[in-house]
Amino acid sequence: MKKKTVQFEYEVYPSVKRLENGDAVLLERARVVTATAYAPYSNFQVGAVALLANGEIVQGSNQENASYPVGLCAERVLLSAISSIHSNMQIKTIAISYHNLNGKSNRPISPCGICRQTLLEYEMRQKHPIRLVMGGMDGKVFVIPNAGMLLPLSFTGDDLK
Ligand code: THU
Repeated sequence: MKKKTVQFEYEVYPSVKRLENGDAVLLERARVVTATAYAPYSNFQVGAVALLANGEIVQGSNQENASYPVGLCAERVLLSAISSIHSNMQIKTIAISYHNLNGKSNRPISPCGICRQTLLEYEMRQKHPIRLVMGGMDGKVFVIPNAGMLLPLSFTGDDLK
């Protein structure tokens, strides 16, 4: 029997003010984009903003439904939009923020499991890491160099070969 360890490093910044300029702009934009969420059921508004290799910025927000499981997270709305509008454009960085209308929004949240799987698919497809910048409306910010790090021992298209 062998034991293996999975670990990864990420950066923690005390606030958006300490981020490098490009990341700060993206996170500030994600904060603004939370207002475009359609989240009348959870009151939890999420904004996701991507910087593409050509310098363009694309945004997405969560879109809920009276039939709860039909709702889509901001990250998957964003990735589908990018894939549809700029089909082969590389994604460099995605900033994610949220506004919890029922509580606090002062610490980072991480993408849910389905979004982690979706992010991994896009990373594999573009053969290039996607950085994640995650923070609330204020407070600490996490920067993860590679979204796939959030999903160790993942299932990918290679397993279907
Ligand atoms: N949500 C996102 O959009 N992204 C996340 O990373 C976590 C959760 C949405 C889904 C749902 O509309 C609401 O937040 C509450 O779960």
